[in-house]
Amino acid sequence: MEDIKINKTTEDDGVIFMSVKKESEKEVDAKKDGDVTILAIESSCDETAVAIVRNGRTVLSNIISSQIALHTVYGGVVPEIASRKHIEKIDYCIKAALEEAALTFDDIDAIAVTYGPGLVGALLVGVSEAKALAFALNKPLIGVHHIEGHISANFIENKELEPPFVCLVASGGHSHLVVVKDYGEYEIIGQTRDDAAGEAFDKVARAIGLGYPGGPKIDKAAREGNPDAIEFPKTKIEGAQYDFSFSGLKSAVLNYINGAEMKGEPINQADLAASFQKNVVDVLAGHAIDAVKKYGYKKLAIAGGVASNTALRERLEKDCADNGISFYRPSPVLCTDNAAMIGTAAYYEYLKGVRSGLDLNAVPNLPLGDRERRYHANR
Ligand code: KG4
Ligand code: ZN
Repeated sequence: MEDIKINKTTEDDGVIFMSVKKESEKEVDAKKDGDVTILAIESSCDETAVAIVRNGRTVLSNIISSQIALHTVYGGVVPEIASRKHIEKIDYCIKAALEEAALTFDDIDAIAVTYGPGLVGALLVGVSEAKALAFALNKPLIGVHHIEGHISANFIENKELEPPFVCLVASGGHSHLVVVKDYGEYEIIGQTRDDAAGEAFDKVARAIGLGYPGGPKIDKAAREGNPDAIEFPKTKIEGAQYDFSFSGLKSAVLNYINGAEMKGEPINQADLAASFQKNVVDVLAGHAIDAVKKYGYKKLAIAGGVASNTALRERLEKDCADNGISFYRPSPVLCTDNAAMIGTAAYYEYLKGVRSGLDLNAVPNLPLGDRERRYHANR
């Protein structure tokens, strides 16, 4: 996990171009009979990403073109800007992914793409591109669920990890506790009733003046603060032990800020960030550990942008060690949006014979566990 290298360049338009490489996978064996090499595309939000993945677990190239700096000035992702940038960057990312892997389209066995959930205009760029490639090259097309991709990121650096295991998924749009029963088979045992964990990070960061993207900024600010400075309430859901609710916490933070402003008292940004973060981490880690104990798999994985949070990773590392649970977490750059995770998820679908039709469409609200079966064969 430590040997990930990221080559970053900032382009004239402010977009950050990244090539992510595992040092230990610099030299990859030549393709053997039976190997499956998948070119995967991800464009569901503000990252245009293309990766080439062999046999699900070896990443030959991983290109991420991040627009984050363009959206920061607006305090959040502007969907139309995201779609337009995807259109500009996607061909360049595909070219870079092939070059980095030293491959041509002839070496590719299938094209994979995220088709939901996400921003519809952003998804449509990746889906159209993938369909055009599959059609022109006469290669199979595999539509992948974005969250299934996040979960699959765990397989990339943990070659020994196999289902079943429990996975905590916490991203900008999702907070789920799932049992990964088999490859591509998920049982949702808990989910958020309102805001996703990442959404709470983003909203609180905005309220305390840290700006967008909230998660990494709160993570950083919290390191200077006292997590026990302010006690915020934790919401428990009657009869649904593994469900989450973060909107009460968000309101409590906003009330705290208003109260301080009315009294003319200054706000300690670092203490506020650390206390909010501790509350979220307590809830996420507490639910996850309880679920592993109940389901008895002794394996916990984490996924999604919030899984890159330092405090959450440290807390789960300790709790898992204390409870004899093996803990799996992708490197931070594989927790946030990337296409390598899409290539990994697609590989296990490919093995099952799943193929998407050329009528594949973007499904912005695609629920986890649902795949809009009409678009695919063998799902
Ligand atoms: O998985 P992701 O990259 O995109 C979605 O599928 O939503 O997750 C983005 C979310 C954002 O809400 C962002 O603030 C949060 O993940 N995030 C973090 C951290 N890095 C990203 N939250 C807490 N701590 C972090 N270090
Ligand atoms: Zn995501």
